[in-house]
Amino acid sequence: MLILKKISEVRDWVRRKSSKGGQIGLVPTMGYLHEGHLSLARAARRENDFVIMSIFVNPLQFGANEDLDTYPRDLKRDSQLAAAAGVDAIFAPEVSEMYPYYPQLTTVNVTEITEVLCGAVRPGHFSGVATVVTKLFNIVQPDRAYFGQKDYQQCLVIKRMVADLNMPVEIKMVPIVREKDGLAMSSRNVYLSEEERRQALCLNEALRICRDLYDKGERSARKLLDAVQDRIRQEPLAAIDYAEICSAELLQEVDEIKENVVVALAVRIGSTRLIDNIVLEGDTGV
Ligand code: PAF
Repeated sequence: MLILKKISEVRDWVRRKSSKGGQIGLVPTMGYLHEGHLSLARAARRENDFVIMSIFVNPLQFGANEDLDTYPRDLKRDSQLAAAAGVDAIFAPEVSEMYPYYPQLTTVNVTEITEVLCGAVRPGHFSGVATVVTKLFNIVQPDRAYFGQKDYQQCLVIKRMVADLNMPVEIKMVPIVREKDGLAMSSRNVYLSEEERRQALCLNEALRICRDLYDKGERSARKLLDAVQDRIRQEPLAAIDYAEICSAELLQEVDEIKENVVVALAVRIGSTRLIDNIVLEGDTGV
């Protein structure tokens, strides 16, 4: 596996590949790869001639009391997994390579859709994400970039940034990959103790209860959310950060479900914060 540490090496690699007319897929990650990341890599492999994965734990998107220092890292293992999923090259820069002037004076800020859900409880997070993703797009200049639906709000923010700023890249959102028992895959799952891991299943179970009620005809967001919260509150180690039903494009709260919506959860299990979501298709299909 080709591991590129310098921006200049990535630019050379991209120049060589695109001069042969090859299309480039970018899979941005923070590493410690799991099946969710690998599904992004496989989608990129199917749809592009060359695939580059970035592995960079981006300090700009972590708050002061978050897990930047303890975030799991294992480049050797990641490079083996990425190679098996069809990745051609990894871009794994040092912080000083990505941010020679830290903090940067220039950041990218998407408004409104970053002020709700995770944005409301993690100030600055999406500015950090939008900024690093813009830098990655400028460095790699990919034809397509792949993001997981688990970070639904992140996908929307990036799609909107790309549309608003006319960035020449197609954004692909790839469905959530779950463990056999339903837990959404996340690099942060390794923080969970055995008991926390068991109680963490309440996120997926709450979303399934919500979908069942919706399929049976319930359209009141309040009633659906009551059922979601009741399920999560059965677990003594679970504390809800938010449980909301919002319009699928603009993340505005809805009372009665008519259009497509996302049911979005952030729940702390012990000290680990997990997120999960489902999209419910509205009756109008809009
Ligand atoms: O989803 C992630 O892993 C990160 O937020 C991303 C998109 C790689 C930016 O650092």
